[in-house]
Amino acid sequence: MPIAPIDVFVPGRFPTGQLNAYAHRGATQRELESALSRGFVPVVFGSYGVGKSSLAMYCAASWAEKSKLVYIPSVYRLSLRAILERVLEHLGYEVTVERVAETRRGGSGEVGFAAKGNVFTFLKASVSGKAARDWEKGDQESRELVIKSPSDVRIIEICEAGGIFLMIDELHRASAPLSRDLSAFLKSYANMNCKRFKICLLGTEDDASGLVIMDQGIDRVLQEIPVEPISRKEAESIIEPGMKRLGLGISKALVERICIASVGSPFIVQYLCLEMAELARAEGLGAVTNGHFELALVTYIKRKAQRAIRAYRSAIETVGAKRYRKQILLAMAKSDDEYVTMDFLVEKVSEQLGEDIPSTALSGPLRELKEARYGRILKDVENPMGIGRLYNYSAFSDPSIKAVIRLVERIDVDLLEKKVESRS
Ligand SMILES: Nc1ncnc2c1ncn2[C@@H]1O[C@H](COP(=O)(O)OP(=O)(O)O)[C@@H](O)[C@H]1O
Ligand SMILES: [Mg+2]
Repeated sequence: MPIAPIDVFVPGRFPTGQLNAYAHRGATQRELESALSRGFVPVVFGSYGVGKSSLAMYCAASWAEKSKLVYIPSVYRLSLRAILERVLEHLGYEVTVERVAETRRGGSGEVGFAAKGNVFTFLKASVSGKAARDWEKGDQESRELVIKSPSDVRIIEICEAGGIFLMIDELHRASAPLSRDLSAFLKSYANMNCKRFKICLLGTEDDASGLVIMDQGIDRVLQEIPVEPISRKEAESIIEPGMKRLGLGISKALVERICIASVGSPFIVQYLCLEMAELARAEGLGAVTNGHFELALVTYIKRKAQRAIRAYRSAIETVGAKRYRKQILLAMAKSDDEYVTMDFLVEKVSEQLGEDIPSTALSGPLRELKEARYGRILKDVENPMGIGRLYNYSAFSDPSIKAVIRLVERIDVDLLEKKVESRS
């Protein structure tokens, strides 16, 4: 059986399988690997879709193989208690959550897990039947535990003994109580000098401090790892070896076209390559062609980007000399930052138009882009960093629209669609 394109190109899945086309992320990847081996807690951050989760998954592959990886895909609506519950269950514990009315009269010094009303929750765990055998030689004490506070060292000891890799993703969705509890947990972790228990944090932010409460107690264990959109070289290193693995030829010029169309998004590279390879296979050809590329791109636009393109087109003005709404969206689409300030927009739009544009000219159009009649393509973000309300930030309501705007600005979508249509 020949290798199938879907075994190699995996849009929307982690490219961590043996046959998958994976781009080594260069210095960023080396930094992450070294942070992990030195016992730091990497805080992997960057825009939506740049490949953060894939990178971290790739680096955690050896733990995943040994079934030591506990991956929390998103912390949305999760508490630290719920996260630790998953870790304990992974280690073979049966967990019950106890709820006790708060009876503290101060001085106990124990910080309970996020209290709701006046009720604390804590974890009660014991080694369950199926895992009990493996624990025969283990000490009695660690077979039964009650964990009342996020800074309890016993859970860290158990993770250390088990050699666990805890990966917490989409941390920008953490609630305030989780951020606080996680901070307490990391503080204990920092004091324990763990050798085998690894933690990795990930989230969509342009500043790592938006993801974790930076605190003197944990500063020294955290290591920030920014991830950028993929470079031309990285895109090539997905396309060329991938096609080769499938026994499909591809010209340099065509590689270049894919790189340009993918606008730094590894997802688009994977998507286009998969489509192209499947078309070539279906036609029994030994190489992918320009025709395949164009059809693949049209398919991508139809299936994945149509809605975003429509949203973009109906938000921008089609006439007018300055077209401020369009200029604002363009400036934001080109930026690597997830949130932008008015200062940023003034600078970028002035650059784009080649003249000084005052903020008063932009504030109206910016407000419109957040209104229903322009599809609320943008939204207000108040203090994304969680500290004070210093600035008003603007962000795309749907972060995946950035890549689509960049694509539409580079490629004449209508012309391409007509071209493909006329051929079929
Ligand atoms: N290093 C890489 N090599 C090849 N493909 C990648 C790489 N990183 C990401 N991808 C592709 O892009 C998609 C989106 O990446 P993902 O890691 O989910 O981004 P993020 O976590 O930053 O939002 C993945 O599903 C995968 O198909
Ligand atoms: Mg991710």
